[in-house]
Amino acid sequence: MTTQEGLKLVERDETGVDTAFRADVLEGLSHEQKAIPARWLYDDAGSQLFEDITQLPEYYPTRAETQILSDQADDFAEMIGPGRAVVEFGSGSSVKTPLLLSAIDPAAYVPLDISGDFLRASAAELSAKFPGLPVHPVEADFMRKVELPGEVADMPKLGFFPGSTIGNMIARTAVDLLRNMRETLGLGARLLIGMDLIKDEDVLVAAYDDAAGVTAEFNYNLVRRINRELDGNILLDALVHEARWNDEFARVEMHLVAQRDFNFSVCDKAFSMNAGETIHTENSHKFNRRTSNMLLLAAGWEPQARWLDTEGRFSVMLAEVKPPRSAP
Ligand code: AVJ
Repeated sequence: MTTQEGLKLVERDETGVDTAFRADVLEGLSHEQKAIPARWLYDDAGSQLFEDITQLPEYYPTRAETQILSDQADDFAEMIGPGRAVVEFGSGSSVKTPLLLSAIDPAAYVPLDISGDFLRASAAELSAKFPGLPVHPVEADFMRKVELPGEVADMPKLGFFPGSTIGNMIARTAVDLLRNMRETLGLGARLLIGMDLIKDEDVLVAAYDDAAGVTAEFNYNLVRRINRELDGNILLDALVHEARWNDEFARVEMHLVAQRDFNFSVCDKAFSMNAGETIHTENSHKFNRRTSNMLLLAAGWEPQARWLDTEGRFSVMLAEVKPPRSAP
């Protein structure tokens, strides 16, 4: 049966199990390299833990990007200008979104999110801060092309995708998403996107393996969720959080590493882990000028400008859609 939770559509079987979660976990644990899609990290507890992560001394991306959005207001005003409909992919942060909206004086704000709860809460908060601004929240899966509200049909669009969330995706999925954004936003659209940068491995690994252990808890929360919701008996004390730099793919990976051999079951299906074997739970890709340009270009977005924070740790890119033309 499909039910609305908040406004989020969740398909559950007769025992109340989220069938998409179960399918992803059972399939992910069956592979040679066990892996579970990162989206399942973000239940209520996981979303709260991520909020806590953004406050950690080691987790620089949120602070660095916020600094760029606040420092570059004049550049945004000049290069983007007023009168656009800002379409945010995700519910919007209470700090970053107002910085952008104040800088450019848009004609409307359209947050897109699959979770109606977050969407309505953040849309209401934003309306209060910008009383004259039309706000049109849309409940949708932004990984696909989205039909925007008629009220913004004739306005030029600015897509906003902060947080280096694009880094969660492998290249193929990232390009699919960026192309769909282009379809959603239409010709003449611009995109303002945050992309975290390749840097010293120790700094990157520390950002995903903080001294206070909050990121470890974030990772363990997935195991707790599997045990609770999918009748699992994965031994939490046999797994240790690890953040690893994968240099070939320029990404930080989160893993849960087995400390010894053990068996477990999830939804009555038997699995085992050997000591040293891991469950891969998240990728966070990092970029440089060339790779970020390449990713945007591959999806039909022409880079126009790029800003870094003062310490050069994080980038915000502006790109535009041009009518297709023949090479070269
Ligand atoms: C929200 C996906 C951008 O990859 O940096 C933070 C998630 N995971 N610490 C990131 C995350 C572990 C975060 N994103």
